[in-house]
Amino acid sequence: MRRKLAAGNWKMNGTRASLEEIGRIAADHSTAACEILICPPATLIVPAVAAAGAGSVRIGGQDCHAKASGAHTGDIAAGQLADAGASHVILGHSERRADHGESDADVAAKTLAAWAAGLVAVVCVGETEAERDRGETLVVIGRQLAGSVPEGATATNLVLAYEPVWAIGTGRTPTLDQIAEVHDFLRAELTARLGDAATGIRLLYGGSVKPSNAAEIFAVSNVDGALVGGASLKAADFGQIIAALSAA
Ligand code: 13P
Repeated sequence: MRRKLAAGNWKMNGTRASLEEIGRIAADHSTAACEILICPPATLIVPAVAAAGAGSVRIGGQDCHAKASGAHTGDIAAGQLADAGASHVILGHSERRADHGESDADVAAKTLAAWAAGLVAVVCVGETEAERDRGETLVVIGRQLAGSVPEGATATNLVLAYEPVWAIGTGRTPTLDQIAEVHDFLRAELTARLGDAATGIRLLYGGSVKPSNAAEIFAVSNVDGALVGGASLKAADFGQIIAALSAA
């Protein structure tokens, strides 16, 4: 059985005042039947770990550098995230791929760095709207998966997130059949590559997940949780998504 995961990606949002939301999630969902992860901006990782306390909420980064240290102004190493108390790191988010030109090879190198630091890598894949319109969704996702996930993936060091670029922050989501098609494909690709080890790897859906659509998405085959952007910023909203996942 895969343990479900409700993950929040705060992106470039949040100040110290937002730590209250993490405290509320930790207090309200201490016995949740799913894992909970919040990835705040790097400035908040240390206090977020403190706000989460010893309870069920884990804290993650949103990116790391592929190198362990050195002259890379503005970047953060995976080991520094781990040192700050993070347990996970999101890698290859489409906003990193678009804003910073990250390639699949870059994401694979970062994933190795994350593993070397003992972090769980939450690797993101997803097609643009133009790629979906051209019927290329599975080709694009297959290529991203093959290129972004290096050798050595296991159920404990990798979480995969399917985030269609056109569904992020738009209020639009794929149909449930479209989500199932991609998640079943990801499971099959992982199994072809890793055999039985693929069975335990969690597959998250991300893109306009809200309290109102969470339950139906969590009922889709091979959806083991969600990577939530906007609706993870407020404990009231994210809490409803956690509750829906716990009940799924
Ligand atoms: P939204 O939930 O705001 O659409 O963002 C999804 C996302 O990009 C999470 O990583």
